[in-house]
Amino acid sequence: MNHKLNEQTTPFMPTRGVIRSIIPMAADNMLFQITVNGSGLPNCLPGQFVQLWVPGVGESPISVCSGHVGSTLELMVRKVGRVTSALFQMQEGDWVGLRGPYGHGFPMNSLEGKDICLIAGGLGVAPIRSVWQYILDHREKYGRVVLIYGMRHSVDLLFRQEFALLHRRRDMDVFIAAEELLGPALPPVSVQLGRVTDMINLADLEGNFEVAVCGPPVMYKYVVAELKKKNIPESKIWLSLERHMKCGIGKCGHCFIGGALTCQAGPVFNLTDLRLLPEVIECA
Ligand SMILES: Cc1cc2nc3c(=O)[nH]c(=O)nc-3n(C[C@H](O)[C@H](O)[C@H](O)COP(=O)(O)OP(=O)(O)OC[C@H]3O[C@@H](n4cnc5c(N)ncnc54)[C@H](O)[C@@H]3O)c2cc1C
Ligand code: FES
Repeated sequence: MNHKLNEQTTPFMPTRGVIRSIIPMAADNMLFQITVNGSGLPNCLPGQFVQLWVPGVGESPISVCSGHVGSTLELMVRKVGRVTSALFQMQEGDWVGLRGPYGHGFPMNSLEGKDICLIAGGLGVAPIRSVWQYILDHREKYGRVVLIYGMRHSVDLLFRQEFALLHRRRDMDVFIAAEELLGPALPPVSVQLGRVTDMINLADLEGNFEVAVCGPPVMYKYVVAELKKKNIPESKIWLSLERHMKCGIGKCGHCFIGGALTCQAGPVFNLTDLRLLPEVIECA
């Protein structure tokens, strides 16, 4: 079947992108580097997402995981269903459609001058990676940086090569934890036995910290409780929420939670705003 993008512009019209490289990460996770036609995706900020269209199959929201987006951007995709399985069948040189970037990302401008703690659980490391890459590109604008990443099994570690380099930097503290240490040893990336919350406990968060968090919904309650023990106020905690989405632009209502459309009001929310949305996050 010949799928063509016509010249008409509607909010649903994707931009064409060519898959430049596909890099396997852990089981069922691949990093796609995609070059976009024309001027690329303008003003893409850490924490925003795109609607990725696989021709003939459908669309899915995927976080942009690169900190700098010019004509090329990176997407870390986990194979779970129709669209992502079809994407995994594609090859370098094939094309896909992209709409976006959409949503509110992390407030990188207002975080300037602050110490930053980044907390990622599982695939939540994808949007958090866009934040640390952005910070490292503008390193002088931010204070101390603490990066915490947790996963169920150590073999699920994503961005292993990059973490090996991050571990060697003197301008950030990196803590990686797995609930189970499986498979071959992972030098030079040091993975500790434990949970994200154990790493928060270990980390020195004395200072003027703002915290950016992304992970599975079950993680938030425990992370927020641990941050409170460190005296971090709610107004300094930013959470990225993933909800089922269809249009990505506030038209279909699929992502409605507690009075807000996540695709527009989020996916990144300040914890104080989430408190106003009932049933969104149950915090201790
Ligand atoms: C803002 C945002 C950013 C995202 N970023 C990424 C990313 O960087 N990488 C990535 O791999 N995935 C990401 N996702 C999740 C991804 O969009 C879903 O996994 C999507 O459903 C995959 O499409 P599919 O057609 O392959 O799966 P489907 O056939 O749609 O669904 C497969 C299974 O996943 C469930 N599911 C669908 N959407 C969600 C969701 N949002 N939360 C929990 N379960 C869901 C379905 O109920 C079903 O059980 C993101 C989602 C959102 C909303
Ligand atoms: S995804 Fe359609 S309104 Fe948010």
